[in-house]
Amino acid sequence: MKAAVVYYSRSGITKKIAEKIQAKFHADMIFVEPEKKYGSFPSAIIRVIREKKGKKAPAAKTPAADFSGYDTVFIGFPVWAATVPDFLQEYLRRADLAGKRVIPFATAGNNGREESLAALKALLPDSEITDYFYTSMTEKADADAWLEGIRA
Ligand SMILES: Cc1cc2nc3c(=O)[nH]c(=O)nc-3n(C[C@H](O)[C@H](O)[C@H](O)COP(=O)(O)O)c2cc1C
Repeated sequence: MKAAVVYYSRSGITKKIAEKIQAKFHADMIFVEPEKKYGSFPSAIIRVIREKKGKKAPAAKTPAADFSGYDTVFIGFPVWAATVPDFLQEYLRRADLAGKRVIPFATAGNNGREESLAALKALLPDSEITDYFYTSMTEKADADAWLEGIRA
């Protein structure tokens, strides 16, 4: 497998899983940065609520990578407002992942499992989305066991 890990993590929980993937599959890491950093938990919440109400969706400042050399792309994110963070969705709209195996992994407080997967399917209709991993505070899943099950 030639893999990349496209991910965002504000407080480090998703990042830990990204690093496990990197270690296991020697994957290249692509951290997707929002145009403007999200700060503390309360300020991030307030901003995301405001963004959801506003007309202009937030964007990522990370340029889309050239994915032609990869067969597998992991996509990791914290669930925000029950789905994939909007700026990461903006990045994924610019990324050419057609024909790739896409393996999403999400971390959350307590919801957004199905909504996040549905958002990714809509964003990446030409990718093969498989092996989705979701863990939350209320429904903890084992990332090591998940990684064991992924075909190299
Ligand atoms: C702005 C914001 C919105 C969030 N919205 C949700 C949500 O809708 N549902 C949920 O289960 N968790 C939500 N969370 C919690 C995060 O998904 C969770 O803490 C995640 O594991 C953080 O990952 P990270 O450390 O990689 O940033 C939210 C957190 C933030 C900061």
